[in-house]
Amino acid sequence: MKDTFYITTAIDYANGRPHLGHAYEKVLTDVVARHRRLMGERVHFLTGIDEHGQKILQTAQAQNKTPEELTNEVAPLFVELCAKLHISHDDFIRTSETRHKDVVRKILSDLFEAGDIYKSPYRGFYSVRQEQFVLEKERVDGKWPEIYGEVVEIEEENYFFRLGKYKERLVEFLHGNIFVFPYFRQKQVTEFLKDPINDLCISRPKSRLPWGIPLPFDEDYVTYVWFDALINYISAIKYGTPDFEKCWPVDFHVIGKDILVPAHAVYWPIMLMAMGVPLPKSLLVHGWWHISGEKLSKSSGVTVDPFSLAEEFGADALRYFLIREMNVGQDSNFTAELFLSRYNADLANNYGNLVNRLLNLSGKHLPDGLATASVTEEPEAEVKQLWAKTEAEIHELFEGFQFHSALDRIFTFITALNRYAEIRAPWKLAKSDDPEDRKLLETSLALLAEGIRLATVACLPVMPETGQRVLGLLGETVPQTWEGELTWSDRLTGRTFGERAILFPRPRT
Ligand code: MSP
Repeated sequence: MKDTFYITTAIDYANGRPHLGHAYEKVLTDVVARHRRLMGERVHFLTGIDEHGQKILQTAQAQNKTPEELTNEVAPLFVELCAKLHISHDDFIRTSETRHKDVVRKILSDLFEAGDIYKSPYRGFYSVRQEQFVLEKERVDGKWPEIYGEVVEIEEENYFFRLGKYKERLVEFLHGNIFVFPYFRQKQVTEFLKDPINDLCISRPKSRLPWGIPLPFDEDYVTYVWFDALINYISAIKYGTPDFEKCWPVDFHVIGKDILVPAHAVYWPIMLMAMGVPLPKSLLVHGWWHISGEKLSKSSGVTVDPFSLAEEFGADALRYFLIREMNVGQDSNFTAELFLSRYNADLANNYGNLVNRLLNLSGKHLPDGLATASVTEEPEAEVKQLWAKTEAEIHELFEGFQFHSALDRIFTFITALNRYAEIRAPWKLAKSDDPEDRKLLETSLALLAEGIRLATVACLPVMPETGQRVLGLLGETVPQTWEGELTWSDRLTGRTFGERAILFPRPRT
């Protein structure tokens, strides 16, 4: 029986270094996974790499390597990226692993036996240079584009999967279900399905592509890479064993917009239908980061390499930027100016400074620990009211994948805390002998401390490392769930806090 929230990323092609797009997808999925854990759910989070197919073989050949050599070099980079960005995945799958290949071959055999895979001649135009079939409609004035080099008409036998047989079932399913988030992308799927669809060629002759999973019923062929890759989502959770039922159906496949149609929204559901397996609950489709790498590194010294960004600014700063700047589903631009401005304004000056102020002032003026907030005047009431509103809003925003807005609300609250600090000016109150001023000083620091705690706990899905540091400084442990953790309390009363800490150092201009 399903008892686990199951979420996956796409598996990245293992033919080069991970880039910012890969980093984003992992961070986004991680934010969802961490949020669900904080909501008390058991979570299984899968990521991994896609190692077969033409792309990998071609890159390997260009580097005078075998495909295994190439993917064995690249795999650790993706694992390292996950560690560097604090990705909390539970499993990392490589499609070259036996656990995966066995499941792919089992599924192929089953579908072949059931008659959903058949052999048929295929006639088409083939670019020898690009090693791929090209479409008649790509000809310009009767000529093939230069990049294809010599194009020959060939006929070869291949194996086909009966996509067409299940198309109407898929159309019906989409008619009655919200399957794709954001929903406008589901319309792209239904639009695509308005045209007739061909059966899917799921084999490549070994003579042409010697790198892939051999077909169990004909070893002269390897499996088409997408057919192989999609199966990772079920091979990793032990398809065919009772364990599988704990996670499946998957709650969300997180993918980029480029691989929705036809791979995830047509091939994959139909493959599952043919296998008699329930369909995924949902596809969470994100947009793309547009990047002009060269311009970036020349103008500012900021590169878009996720490793160097995390190294220089900290993983949480990169995570914050990616989540704050991307409205899930839309595209976004990465510019050095924007990155630095978020880093300096939001993280260093707004949040970092506030924490520093608190530690500094409470260290100096409250050596016996945080006192009770005994004053309740308008500024105090306003802060508490704003939090109550923020808390209500962020639950909904997290639930609806509006993470950028959730962060916006939390940081608006942090700005309000800084404004409150300016109004009460505890550094001035500390100079006064008036007991009323002392009360105000104590109250203001209690309010700031609790405010920081709440904002920090709310940011945990996005900034887990910072959360651990700040909560540690406040004498708190990192909560496993949000239950009871996001409401205003006086739990910090009596605490003495850690030393001053620079959370986001080296602010730049
Ligand atoms: N191997 C296939 C996926 C197979 S899933 C069964 C693949 N790999 S990929 O490396 O090209 O892309 C992996 C993921 O990264 C995709 O979801 C893709 O959309 C995402 N991104 C690649 N470049 C991106 C950006 N510039 N911005 C955001 N995401 C991007 O496709």
